[in-house]
Order: sequence, then structure tokens, then C-alpha cells
Amino acid sequence: MTIQTVPTTAFADQKPGTSGLRKKTPAFMKPNYLENFVQATFTAIGGAAGKTFVLGGDGRYFNDRAAQIILRIAAGNGAARVIVGQGAVLSTPAASHLIRLNKTDGGIIMSASHNPGGPEEDFGVKFNTPNGGPAPESVTEAMFAATKTITEYKLLDAPDIDLGTLGRVSLGDMIVDVVDPVADYADLMESLFDFPAIAQMFANGFRMRFDAMCAVTGPYGSEILERRLGAAGGTVTHGTPLPDFGGMHPDPNPTWAHELMAEMFGPDAPDFGAASDGDGDRNMVVGRGIYVSPSDSLAVLAANAHLAPGYAKGLAGVARSMPTSAAVDRVAAKLGIAAYETPTGWKFFGNLLDDGRATLCGEESFGTGSDHVREKDGLWAVLLWLNILAVRKESVAEILAQHWAEYGRNYYSRHDFEAIATDKADAMMSALRASLPTLPGTQIEGMTISAADDFAYTDPVDGSVSQKQGVRILFADGSRIVMRLSGTGTEGATLRVYLERYAPGPEGLDLDPQDALAPVIRAAHALAGIGPHTGRTEPNVIT
Ligand code: G6P
Ligand code: ZN
Repeated sequence: MTIQTVPTTAFADQKPGTSGLRKKTPAFMKPNYLENFVQATFTAIGGAAGKTFVLGGDGRYFNDRAAQIILRIAAGNGAARVIVGQGAVLSTPAASHLIRLNKTDGGIIMSASHNPGGPEEDFGVKFNTPNGGPAPESVTEAMFAATKTITEYKLLDAPDIDLGTLGRVSLGDMIVDVVDPVADYADLMESLFDFPAIAQMFANGFRMRFDAMCAVTGPYGSEILERRLGAAGGTVTHGTPLPDFGGMHPDPNPTWAHELMAEMFGPDAPDFGAASDGDGDRNMVVGRGIYVSPSDSLAVLAANAHLAPGYAKGLAGVARSMPTSAAVDRVAAKLGIAAYETPTGWKFFGNLLDDGRATLCGEESFGTGSDHVREKDGLWAVLLWLNILAVRKESVAEILAQHWAEYGRNYYSRHDFEAIATDKADAMMSALRASLPTLPGTQIEGMTISAADDFAYTDPVDGSVSQKQGVRILFADGSRIVMRLSGTGTEGATLRVYLERYAPGPEGLDLDPQDALAPVIRAAHALAGIGPHTGRTEPNVIT
């Protein structure tokens, strides 16, 4: 086995986004494409020599072969050790945990998250830093710079190694530890939550459905829910990870997790339903006959987290992305703790978590998590809900009703207009931005606009400033419209319209959100001219 220096030419399109490099799988499978990106990653972090990394992915098509290539490049660059999930599989939160637990120099995660997988679908690679979180912009910029100047990469000339068997093997001088992808993560969950209380609830007949969507959380759900907590066999559905996710779009929202929604709203609905995404960091929670919006979920979790042993001492603070509803702010105010408002993107929570300012974080995009790892964590959120249900011994519907009675209800919905021509979407946003100074004081749909701006964020820890993070139109009655273009869409532009209206109660707390928000929706269409600009009058996804 020798280390080869392989000549290569740069690819112009390897700029990592917020979640690493994502492309169609055939693009990743082009000769040298993955090799170049991994070499550039090692170059950007000052080399791999003598370092230890974690490696794993969500098991999508090409995951297994990509892992072998990444290992050979790591060995070629002199890495000392790589900890790999068995079968090259790790959920994103489990990878984050292993990076931290083993005090490694970071990790490489192979995933395109909730995007479909398969020979013609999506693949992705991202680098997480030693804190367990996604690489910050300074690192991804250095990676991109290295992809543009690369002329060669180092590769250990060696055959594939067996990643299916647990244990230690050598790849040249590099150690490869193949570990159980689930065990350490499950232990972490057991250290945070009251497993005996949850197990007792299942023993008493509590029924749950966890839809793993043929993605990575199947084995995690089976081990934790069915084996450790004693939930009935069959609690986990679509529990076998498949390279193409069985053709499912593994994104846990009411549109894509429609099978779960149908069951939870059907005649024999279980007590509790949940789903996670391709790589296990997103979650959706549903009660019997009641959908829990991610913004409400975050607020309920913040209000009740102290019921779980891992959070019994209370929360240091909470953080939410700007478009997420203000429901959690009301909880923070009552608890007397700080509430941070960040731009969209989990990376903005990293400093707040590292600095001990926030314990719980969440986004309207089905992401919830805490300082236990540095990624959002789907199963963690599900287990915190289960812990709360086990202690309070009430239904999801009862818990939500009591929450709204206490804090009032932030009616909330997100309307997505996908695959708009990029120039049309940009023109619409420019016109809207230009109109902002004229809006305050004007009336629409019987509501007065009190403020209108483009959200900017100054990180309280490192002082960095992020501009133009989304247009906000605030109304005197507490209602709010936010509009921004998605940073993760793959086809044209996706317009996201976030709608919120506050009802203090006690009257009017149990309306259909789309009805409660009707005037705000009409105002959004009128103020932005969505129809005239884009030709679209109806969203194609509503969450
Ligand atoms: C990913 C990110 C989240 C973000 C979401 C939606 O899941 O990790 O932080 O909220 O995408 O982002 P988008 O720009 O498409 O609204
Ligand atoms: Zn994900």
C-alpha cells in the first residue's frame, strides 16, 4: 500500500452551502469530484496529519462507496484514526455526538438531509468542526478557495475495507474504528431523559407511531423506542434505511409525511406520532387528531423541559430563528431567561450554545435541539416530548390547549412557492424591499403596519453581522409577515412566506390556523404582489 499523489483539475462548482456541498449524485460520482472536495477540506483545516475524525452518512445511494474514497484520502493525508459508523452509517446528530464524545478534530458527514436519494437524486458531504457543529463560514470559505486551486490529492492505494464488521482495522498506518452507530447516541439520550417513566407509560398501553421514512433513524428508533423503552413492535414504521429511501421524500412535514398524518387523524390513531428526515436531524410531532407546529413544539418543550432530568436545573436561554413564531419568547419571558432571535440556519445557534447562553434552540423548518450536540436532533425532540407526556400524563391536545390558555396562541403557518423563476423571485423581493420605508403607519386588511425592515443579526458572541436575512412586516396587533427566499432549494427560487397572528385568549384559541391567518395571508399577497410578480396565487406546500 503506497500513498499516491494524484494529479487533478479543479471543479468550479464546489462552493459549500450552509449544509456542506450538495449536488446530484452523478455529479459527485464524476472522477475526482469527491476526491477533490475531501482533499480541499483537509487542506482548509491545515491538513489531516495525525488527526482523528468521525465519518458516517445517512446511507443514501453512493454513501458506501464515498466512505471508502474518503477513508483512502484521509489515510493518504496521514490521518491517525477515523471512527466510522458501521456500514458507514451515522445520523447527523449521532455524528455530532461522536465528534464531541471522542474529542476528535472534526468529522465528515455524507448526507443531503431531507432531499431524496438515489442514482439520479441528491448526495452531499459536509465537514463539522471539533465542537460537533457545521463548519462556520470562515472554514467553508477556505474549503471553497482550496477547491479552486487544487492540482493534486493524496490517496492511499488500498482495497476497500470491511465497514460491516464492528472493530478496529488498519488502512495503511491509519486506524479505522468501526463503531455501532446507535449505542453511544442511545446512551446520551438515556442520560438526558427519564427512560423508566417513559417505559412505564408504554407499559401502560401508550401507543406511538414513529415514521423513519426509510431513512437513517430507523435503527435509532427501533433501539431506543422499541428495545430500550419497550414500545410495541411496529411502533417504528419505514424503519429499514434504503439507498433511495424507498422512493419517499424523507422530509417530515404534513405534505411528505402524509401516511403518518392520515393515521394520526384516522379512526384508530395512536396517542403520539412523530417523523424524522433523511439524516435524522429534523422532526415533526403529531398528537391524536392534532398537528403540532414546530414553533409551538419549541415553546412547549421550553416550558416543560425541566420535567426531563437532563434539563431539571432549568434553561440558560432559548434561541429561535427569526421566521419562527414568537411563542417561545413568551415562555422565556415568563421563565425570566434570555430569548435570542437569529437568522435562518442552525449554524447561527452554535456560538450561543458554545457560550452557554442558550440551552434550547428551534426553527420553524422542523428543527429542534439543545446543547447536548451541535446539530438539530429529531429523535431528541421526540424523546423530550415523550418525557413530558409521561410526567404530565396528559394528551398532546390537552398540553397544547393548556399552553395556549396560559400564554395565548401564536397562530402560525408557512406558505412555500417552489420553483419560481429566479429572476421573477428576485424582482419581487427587490420591489418589496424598496417599498419597506413607505409601509409603517399604513393600513391593510384592517390592520396597521407598525414596522417594516430587512432582518439583520449581530452575533452577541463574536460580533459578526449578517445582513438581509428576510423582510419583516410587523403589525400593531402583533401579527407579522416574513418573506425570504430559501437558501436550500435546488430548482429555481423558493419563496417562503411566514405568517403569524397572536390571539391572547381566552376566546379564539382553537381556530384553524389558515382561517385565523386569512387577513394576514391576504395582506402578504397584496403587499408583495406575489401573483403579479410570479404568476402564482397558491402555495404548493403549507406547513
Ligand atoms: C436546513 C437548515 C435549517 C434551515 C432549513 C431551511 O434544514 O439546517 O437551519 O432552517 O434548512 O432553510 P431555507 O433557507 O430553505 O428556508
Ligand atoms: Zn436533515
